[in-house]
Amino acid sequence: MLDPLADYEKHPKAMVCDCMHKDWRRIELAIRALDLKTVDEVTEQTDAGGGCHSCWPILEAILERCARGEYRFEATEEELAKVRRRARP
Ligand code: FES
Repeated sequence: MLDPLADYEKHPKAMVCDCMHKDWRRIELAIRALDLKTVDEVTEQTDAGGGCHSCWPILEAILERCARGEYRFEATEEELAKVRRRARP
């Protein structure tokens, strides 16, 4: 099975969600900071996945990696705290 994140490994700043203009880092930080578990939760907090839905397999792959504690990007506690302060209710 193809890894949906393979292309993004080579181009980490590429938009994961073109519709909402969100890249992997933005999504990963939200998942980590807010303990997001589902694509719906990612969409609620970041808007990623809220358009054509074609990025959902990629969002699911990022969620799976994060659930295993595998993070692509470094993030400081300060950055994660900033994401938490901006969280939507
Ligand atoms: S590319 Fe993410 S919703 Fe369209």
